[in-house]
Amino acid sequence: SVIVENISVIGTGYLGATHAACMAELGFNVVGVDIDPGKIASLSAGDLPFHEPGLPELIRKHVTTGRLRFTTDLDEVGAWADVHFIAVGTPQVRGGTGADMTYVDTATASLARAITKDSLIVGKSTVPVGTAARLADLVAEQKNPDVDVSLAWNPEFLREGFAVKDTLTPDRLVVGTTSQADEAVLRRVYAEALNRNTPWIATDFQTAELVKVAANAFLATKISFINAFAEVTETVGGNITTLADAIGHDTRIGRKFLNAGVGFGGGCLPKDIRALQTRVAELGLDHSMRFLDEVDQINLRRRKKAVALAFDLLSQDVIGKKIAVLGITFKPLSDDVRDSPGLDVAARLFNAGADVHVYDPQGSRNAAKRYPRITYTDTLDDAVTEAELVILTTEWEEFRALTPEDLNHQVTTRRIIDARNVLHPPHWEAHDWTFTQLGRKVQRD
Ligand code: UDX
Repeated sequence: SVIVENISVIGTGYLGATHAACMAELGFNVVGVDIDPGKIASLSAGDLPFHEPGLPELIRKHVTTGRLRFTTDLDEVGAWADVHFIAVGTPQVRGGTGADMTYVDTATASLARAITKDSLIVGKSTVPVGTAARLADLVAEQKNPDVDVSLAWNPEFLREGFAVKDTLTPDRLVVGTTSQADEAVLRRVYAEALNRNTPWIATDFQTAELVKVAANAFLATKISFINAFAEVTETVGGNITTLADAIGHDTRIGRKFLNAGVGFGGGCLPKDIRALQTRVAELGLDHSMRFLDEVDQINLRRRKKAVALAFDLLSQDVIGKKIAVLGITFKPLSDDVRDSPGLDVAARLFNAGADVHVYDPQGSRNAAKRYPRITYTDTLDDAVTEAELVILTTEWEEFRALTPEDLNHQVTTRRIIDARNVLHPPHWEAHDWTFTQLGRKVQRD
């Protein structure tokens, strides 16, 4: 019978570090593996190179209990673990739209060669359909002939900001396997979730790979759908939030992911819809996912619209004018600025000559690596003082709670663009603010 005691997680980025800590929380002995010794040293000390609520505490807890450790030594891990999770990145290829498979391929091949014990390799990374079958062949070719090593696919659906919760109490578990024995191993890994009746979807490789990209493509489509209607209400009038509420009451539609605004960003949705289109085009099916091109275009138009509104409000001249950008991460509770709509808006205004001051509770450090010449302030106050325009680009709780009274006497001119539709217009208008939202028809006096 299959014993699962020791688990390795290859790749200790966002996904891997979270998965490793959560597996330790479930009671397994876990090792996180990475080729970057610096990362291993800081994780061992409980320091994370990114912001994720609750995760540093969980890592420190299990480094202390002894159930969690980190190493760069793949050979040691190959002799030790019963189950190996592959959690390395699949970024967008430089200068292209497909997924860069170098890390997954290299990690899988090196692992297969290092394994000296019967074990299961489980892919978690988001990959083009067909990858698992290809990797299964690679493992068979690279592994030691004396050991039994097979491959399974188990996509991950965690959201940044809720990574620990999503991993410990997932909405569903999807496992693609080629044998019942491999599925049985994964049932042991996830026994706790199964005890809570978490839906368990046991399927083939292709379905498991596609579930992940289909889910992200659907979410992206839902956001662009409402944002396309925002383009209409911007022209004819109407209230995009009321529209979303009203259609969202239909349980077949649902209210979630219908918040119109500056659009989606981050390390997943944008790259995943592009990689999916690229993959189906390779398969000769480019027409099947062509609508995702529109989804992408609608999304990118929102950023341009936010910039155009800023130009309008500043009489088409932004040069030297102080603009406060509130929120630079792609969403709240994260310090991730990958493909961030707010950062894009800030950078466009900065490049147009505006004096951009960014305030973000977590994201400034990462943003400054990309755009070092933009000004990042330590307080909201510093960003808005003497600003001629305020733009709210990420709906952090402290920005949602903003009132005109907070800003009335700081700014030079009372102009605000709420690019996330989280503020209450009448309240601002009562204080003589020129108040604009994406999805709202501009009021002309
Ligand atoms: C996403 C998926 O939700 C997750 O299941 C998958 O594993 C990884 O990709 P994440 O990137 O963490 O997770 O962010 P998510 O919360 O999905 O938000 C994505 C983007 O959409 C953010 O920029 C957010 O601001 C935007 N968004 C979300 C909207 O613009 N409107 C909405 O209604 C919802």
